[in-house]
Amino acid sequence: MKLKGQVAIVTGAGRNIGEDTAKHLAAEGAKIAVVDFDQERGDKVAAEINASGGQAKAFLTDISNEDDISQLMRDIVQLWGGIDILVNNAAISDNKHILEITKAEWDKVIAVSLTGPFLMSKMAAAEMVKTGAGGKIVNVGSTSGFYGRKRAVAYASAKGGLVSLTRAMAVQLAPHNIRVNAVIPNKIGSPVGKSEFDPTRPVVNLRGRNGLPMDLARAVLFLVSDDSDFIVGDALFVDGGVSAMMVGD
Ligand SMILES: NC(=O)c1ccc[n+]([C@@H]2O[C@H](COP(=O)([O-])OP(=O)(O)OC[C@H]3O[C@@H](n4cnc5c(N)ncnc54)[C@H](O)[C@@H]3O)[C@@H](O)[C@H]2O)c1
Repeated sequence: MKLKGQVAIVTGAGRNIGEDTAKHLAAEGAKIAVVDFDQERGDKVAAEINASGGQAKAFLTDISNEDDISQLMRDIVQLWGGIDILVNNAAISDNKHILEITKAEWDKVIAVSLTGPFLMSKMAAAEMVKTGAGGKIVNVGSTSGFYGRKRAVAYASAKGGLVSLTRAMAVQLAPHNIRVNAVIPNKIGSPVGKSEFDPTRPVVNLRGRNGLPMDLARAVLFLVSDDSDFIVGDALFVDGGVSAMMVGD
């Protein structure tokens, strides 16, 4: 087991990419804090991990709320004694054009999708520094953070910022033996904010199949395990090669 006895937080672990990531990390022996602001989803995933022989607990947390996060960190440290791994997966999108998005809509997306990972990382890293054992942080970005899109102006901006946050934290936390990286998905399972998968959606990538939550989960597992010990501040594309393709070629 690659993560035996380690404590891992996975945000947005109630479904899709976060759910599979939580289950993959649990299967490698990590104790999982299943963080979601949807109680039912979080409870279900934690129960499934426990039923399959893993160890998990659901924590009802809004990652855009600083008080919620402080409480979360206190609860986890009290329960399991420390934090080894943080996966910043939860995010929301706006699906808006710049000419129509309101400031309130912009603020909400940035609060969850960029400030959330910042606050979670700041507070989890403080716990990692306290124990002196180091740790790993993985941010779940998006190809939307690299390329212009017709919609989702706030989401694209948050995800672009998340890559810069990854590099800044990689440098600032390296002296504490905390390794920070990002994964960059494109079209995995159901779209962000939705539970339903549309099988008629055209597949545009170099693998000729839809991306699965498991594809991301495996990449995150790699980045939080010692198999990736020399990889720091990286943004690993898990997109079936779509970012390698020239538009219109
Ligand atoms: N699905 C994709 O095709 C895709 C593509 C690119 C990037 N991503 C990224 O992958 C990550 C996961 O995407 P997904 O499709 O699995 O998302 P999803 O919408 O299916 O699941 C997100 C989970 O996060 C929870 N959540 C939302 N806001 C929260 C908050 N404020 N506090 C706590 N929990 C909250 C939701 O309840 C939900 O369970 C996101 O960062 C997303 O931007 C996904």
